[in-house]
Amino acid sequence: MTDQAYNLRKKAWEKKRRASYISVSSGKGGVGKTNFVVNLAYWLAKMGKKVLVFDADLGLANIDILLNLTVKSSIRKYLRGEAEMEDLLKKDVYGFDVVPAASGFAELTKLDDEEFEKLVEIFVSMDTMYDYILFDTGAGISDTVTRFAAIADNVIVMTQPEPTAITDAYAFMKVVHFEHGVDKVQFVLNRVEDVPGVKSIYMSMKNVAMKFLNIDLELLGHLREDKQLISAVRQQKPVSEVSPNGSYSRDIYNIARKIVGLPKEKEKPGLYGILKGVFK
Ligand SMILES: Nc1ncnc2c1ncn2[C@@H]1O[C@H](COP(=O)(O)OP(=O)(O)OP(=O)(O)O)[C@@H](O)[C@H]1O
Ligand SMILES: [Mg+2]
Repeated sequence: MTDQAYNLRKKAWEKKRRASYISVSSGKGGVGKTNFVVNLAYWLAKMGKKVLVFDADLGLANIDILLNLTVKSSIRKYLRGEAEMEDLLKKDVYGFDVVPAASGFAELTKLDDEEFEKLVEIFVSMDTMYDYILFDTGAGISDTVTRFAAIADNVIVMTQPEPTAITDAYAFMKVVHFEHGVDKVQFVLNRVEDVPGVKSIYMSMKNVAMKFLNIDLELLGHLREDKQLISAVRQQKPVSEVSPNGSYSRDIYNIARKIVGLPKEKEKPGLYGILKGVFK
């Protein structure tokens, strides 16, 4: 299919869709995308939203591992015409639905236009069933990754405070901007140990994104470093289910509130705050 035909179909589809599409990418691998997507879906579902998680990390899928799902069919089989769309859906996984991908198939990382269109048909057919459709994309800046970002309403770029992760997040924004015209991106900083320092990392990213890419970078939120996440991953459960009051879970809960348009939850005062209140 020509680029022009592809763009026309994309535009037509954008007009009639109902769900809100959110893509999560990073540039650098291993910065926390899959956990973010799963836990965001968890809280959005708890808020009564209908949510579909689509494992868009097509060649190195791992949502099924993170959630301990047994998968009888896969996107790979679907693309080869060996499975129906309905067979792909895992319903009510902690309150949300999942379309898992397949691991270890390099051809899935290089989809041609026709194959990508066939994937898009999955969302088109399921669109009216959901409020939010979340794409957990692979790392890197390949075509498959950036095309998911190109069809999303909200493009999230996730990074960690390390310079290499930040540079790769910038590279991702550069590609989605120049190849797909994306001009608004939401920023999430993960594995934060110094909360007051988040603002300055965000501000330098924001300035660079505006100056060189003309991208408006919005701060969606941050997620603190939390050992409970590592133990939840070992248990193959969302940390929000295992430790709903842990720092990671509270942070992601607040991001979910922001996405649905609710204000940030007030922090519980802690012992110092309670004593201050008593003695004031
Ligand atoms: N906030 C956090 N606190 C502690 N550990 C974290 C945090 N976020 C991520 N991690 C660690 O990083 C690991 C990788 O996370 P995850 O699989 O979500 O990253 P990813 O970006 O999806 O990776 P990939 O690019 O390979 O798909 C987790 O298994 C966990 O050990
Ligand atoms: Mg991942």
